[in-house]
Amino acid sequence: MFQSPYEAIGGEQVVSKLVDAFYERVAKHPDLAPIFPNDLTETARKQKQFLTQYLGGPPLYTAEHGHPMLRARHLPFPITPTRAKAWLACMHEAMDAIGLKGPVRDELYQRLMLTAQHMINTPDDER
Ligand code: HEM
Repeated sequence: MFQSPYEAIGGEQVVSKLVDAFYERVAKHPDLAPIFPNDLTETARKQKQFLTQYLGGPPLYTAEHGHPMLRARHLPFPITPTRAKAWLACMHEAMDAIGLKGPVRDELYQRLMLTAQHMINTPDDER
């Protein structure tokens, strides 16, 4: 059988490590921290659920929260091109930090670039 990207990346443990390393960086990023809650526990929990299904693992996010409608869920937050770049930089660093390598890393990052682009809802000069 073919492996899903979720299996190829290393499943629950790796997704969990990646998301934790990611939000450690988000919490310290001057462009991102101000729009996130101080306590990122719940945000990280939802992101683990979301990335699990994004990678073709069990649909944990949808089971608890319904259709992701990611762009709509981001509309309350001013997502500028600068913030999208910062988000991706934190993800890139998190991937480095946990030693994620190979085609599954590259494919995930490529997809995240498209999704991040799609979340932009505010021009840079309006933040
Ligand atoms: C939630 C920012 C891109 C997935 C959030 C929240 C913020 C945010 C401020 C709310 C956190 C909270 O209240 O708990 C951003 C910024 C992005 C970005 C600045 C830059 C482009 C993405 C991308 C994905 C994503 C690319 C998917 C791969 C999520 C998920 C949630 C979330 C799953 C939780 C939604 C929920 O409340 O159920 N994001 N985000 N975000 N974001 Fe993003």
